[in-house]
Amino acid sequence: MEMLRRRFHGGHQHEYALLGGNEKARPRLWTRKHSILVLLLIALATLFFVSLSIRSGEQPCDTPEAGYQCRPEISHFWGQYSPYFSVASDIPAHTPEGCHITFAQVLARHGARDPTLGKSLLYGATIERLKANVKHFPGRYAFLADYEYTLGADQLSIFGQRQLVSAGVNFYERYKPLSRDFVPFLRASGQKRVIDSAWNWTQGFREAMLADEHTNPHHPSLPAVDVVVSEEEGMNNTLHHDICTEFETGKFGAIGSTAKFKWVEVFAEPIRARFNADLIGANLTLTEVIYLMELCPFETVASPTGKISRICDLFTTEEWRQYNYYGSLDKWYGYGHGNPLGPTQGVGFVNELIARMTDEAVTDTTSTNRTLDSDPQTFPLGRRLYADFSHDNDMTAIMAALGLYGETSHLPNRTLVGAPEAGGFSAAWTVPFAGRVYFEKLQCAGHDEELVRVLVNDRVQPLLQCEGDALGRCTLSAFVDSLQFARSGGHWAACFK
Ligand SMILES: *[C@@H]1O[C@H](CO)[C@@H](O)[C@H](O)[C@H]1NC(C)=O
Ligand SMILES: *[C@@H]1O[C@H](CO)[C@@H](O)[C@H](O)[C@H]1NC(C)=O
Ligand SMILES: *[C@@H]1O[C@H](CO)[C@@H](O)[C@H](O)[C@H]1NC(C)=O
Ligand SMILES: *[C@@H]1O[C@H](CO)[C@@H](O)[C@H](O)[C@H]1NC(C)=O
Ligand SMILES: *[C@@H]1O[C@H](CO)[C@@H](O)[C@H](O)[C@H]1NC(C)=O
Repeated sequence: MEMLRRRFHGGHQHEYALLGGNEKARPRLWTRKHSILVLLLIALATLFFVSLSIRSGEQPCDTPEAGYQCRPEISHFWGQYSPYFSVASDIPAHTPEGCHITFAQVLARHGARDPTLGKSLLYGATIERLKANVKHFPGRYAFLADYEYTLGADQLSIFGQRQLVSAGVNFYERYKPLSRDFVPFLRASGQKRVIDSAWNWTQGFREAMLADEHTNPHHPSLPAVDVVVSEEEGMNNTLHHDICTEFETGKFGAIGSTAKFKWVEVFAEPIRARFNADLIGANLTLTEVIYLMELCPFETVASPTGKISRICDLFTTEEWRQYNYYGSLDKWYGYGHGNPLGPTQGVGFVNELIARMTDEAVTDTTSTNRTLDSDPQTFPLGRRLYADFSHDNDMTAIMAALGLYGETSHLPNRTLVGAPEAGGFSAAWTVPFAGRVYFEKLQCAGHDEELVRVLVNDRVQPLLQCEGDALGRCTLSAFVDSLQFARSGGHWAACFK
């Protein structure tokens, strides 16, 4: 760290000295005419390169501030496979006037990845079957004739790594007054892509810190991944569900897939009919239609710059909205309020969050690992910044256990309800690749007690469960009181019968 900082400051000084030296020694050969000509040339060259990069579609699709913004009318409707984007917030997301943040915890999903192994094989097989059975690919399908499926399995893509670097920058910038002085404590769930995501996030945090001339020169250290919580079978892990038997293997396990297949029968049938009419011999099944749709986000995030896949344009924007709803049903009924044991899976994390926010030992009878949580090395209290890395399903359960989206009516299985009408619930708005929830404590003028705000991908939650004010703020005590479900065990006993 010291070395990096010295190199950084050293470089800065060097540049300054050069400028100063030139200034003094510059011979008076340059006339005003020369300078104007040079400026004109520079301006022209800049214009040329800017227009070139726009025409070749090379402007960045993804930035630390706004996330992924190319073709939002489709890319923000890819369910949990959407790349993170900043979601519009009814309540302004900036820190309210007169408040400063005293504590921040992020809970983040890993970045974009290749399809899981099983899916990757199925996608490849679908393409092979199409190519074997269809003799002629007309019009906009033409590229499929020599299309090769090349995606790998499970790991973060380059684009996904960059997403997490950006997420680290975003966190540093939002919480600058704290990140200048404090190092976040990091935990990652034990799957490779999650651990890798956490490391890439620390890179972004460090980059932003080195670029910040006001950072504390005595900053204690660089962030690191402090704890990896195992995902091995039978492990207690608040960032990954596994040990609630009735949920994993009992009758609650199938609710999500039952719900989403009811919707597939409604929305994917017309798509299937179109493909099968256009591509003689294709005879696609409904499931294969879904696989083809999923190739669109996966091919896009396999491109280092997030270049939109050609497959995407085989479907209409309305069909992407329908696909997004398929993801929303999967999360709602698989892990959210639509599953009687969904929120239960998020209880352990909520009890850990309460401990961190109130600076009191963890009280939990569910999925926490008591060994880890009672050791200050692996579960320190009293820190200002925390970062945890997990998965979409677990984050969905945690949001439900917190009572977020508690006012949303159960999503109908055969009628699409958009995110704004569903109180902000949609797989793309809640758990996209590199999605993140920010939990903040604020000290605000005119309030003796600390206040709490929760932002899901920049969308401020109204926190109606603890009478959130117009800015989405609850007092810390009202927030903790509202978490009765988690504090009283969250139906954990129903996991075993
Ligand atoms: C992400 O981190 C890995 C090491 O964990 C590194 O090899 C890779 O270059 C990083 N990605 C980016 C985009 O910086
Ligand atoms: C709890 O964490 C400890 C320390 O990492 C580990 O050795 C142990 O296997 C974990 N136990 C369970 C049940 O998760
Ligand atoms: C949707 O389907 C699931 C799974 O069968 C079911 O539990 C749920 O009640 C259905 N939702 C509605 C609103 O009917
Ligand atoms: C189309 O596929 C179905 C199974 O999904 C099969 O029963 C049917 O025979 C196939 N039709 C043709 C024309 O291959
Ligand atoms: C893991 O969780 C179970 C269920 O709450 C609990 O009985 C057990 O003691 C926990 N193990 C550890 C190491 O915390």
